Amino acid sequence: MHDPAVLRSIHRSRYQAEPAVFVAPGRVNLIGEHTDYAEGFVMPAAIDFATLAGISPRSDGKIVLYSENNGEQRCFAAAVLPALASRHWSDYPLGVLSILAAEGHTIPGFSLSLWGDVPLGSGLSSSAALEVVTALAVCSLLGVAYPGAKLARLCQRAENEFVGASCGIMDQFISANAKQNHALLLDCRDLSFKLAPIPADVALVIANTMVKHSNVGGDYTTRRAEVESACAAIASHRPEVRFLRDATVADLELWGGEMPPNALKRARHVITENLRTVAAAEALARGDLAELGRLMAEAHRSYSQDFEGSCVEADAMVALAQDLPGMIGARLTGGGFGGCTINLVAQNRAAEFAQALGARYAAEVGIVPQIHICHASGAAHRIS
Ligand code: GLA
Repeated sequence: MHDPAVLRSIHRSRYQAEPAVFVAPGRVNLIGEHTDYAEGFVMPAAIDFATLAGISPRSDGKIVLYSENNGEQRCFAAAVLPALASRHWSDYPLGVLSILAAEGHTIPGFSLSLWGDVPLGSGLSSSAALEVVTALAVCSLLGVAYPGAKLARLCQRAENEFVGASCGIMDQFISANAKQNHALLLDCRDLSFKLAPIPADVALVIANTMVKHSNVGGDYTTRRAEVESACAAIASHRPEVRFLRDATVADLELWGGEMPPNALKRARHVITENLRTVAAAEALARGDLAELGRLMAEAHRSYSQDFEGSCVEADAMVALAQDLPGMIGARLTGGGFGGCTINLVAQNRAAEFAQALGARYAAEVGIVPQIHICHASGAAHRIS
């Protein structure tokens, strides 16, 4: 696991300097998929996989980035930072620097060591964790403390404008604003949120299909474009509909015929997913786990069939979980097309559930999955 003492000693021996150390978590989304960029609702929680950053100032005007995960160091002049991404891990920290510079900050020289255990390309927001931890570390050198929502926006811009992934706000927001033992029902329109306590007897079991997922280019971008084209078709009749958040199932009945068939299906997912997400938060608040599980099953069906954001492996992982003892609800989490499923499971059955699900998946799909019993962790912060 990510041990700050280990990162400290890596940083010290590479740079002969004592680092300030920060941590930012990955996340799992309980429900509310591809709704964030439609200004809708999501319900993520931070998890105990995280990325650490150690930072110390340099007097030679250089920015030295080291990734322990990649065993690789890159060096830049602070005065002439790259303007373009290069499809390299350093794009994420460089993106954050480019947005901080665009905000009017002069970026000083520093050494930054990064090390994390958020599984990459698994839909658990390793990118957001990397951006948020970099932003916190660099802001500490700048002497700036942004509120969590603003920090999340800056990191989202780093990903949109520099890395070139058209993601919404969910991942960066939860990494920067999470609360231990809670999910957040986040309204992506105004970034207000309600805390959704996760009962102590419910475990978050994350099952990695081992099928890689990416937000850069490809299917994620296509889906987002389809969602936006469906919105435009409705808006041509109802101009007050600026995002699918403002649209209803009745709008689809009236004007769905004017959309390409795929856009109609994507829109049906997003519109109904917003309703399910709010209902799921209410079910969780009143302890109605049966209803929560039903909503998660419905959400997965919609994500898989209407949004076509799943894959055969994730559908299998969800199906194979259904009748296991302790199972409350299961669905594919994150950007889609691979990655992980989230399973809410009775705490006292979690270990046995994880083992049985792993064995079933390996037998049926022929891939040995990684299954993690996680806890809802707190927000990104400095480690003293
Ligand atoms: C990725 C993006 C998020 C969100 C999800 C889908 O994780 O980074 O902004 O759109 O996919 O819900």
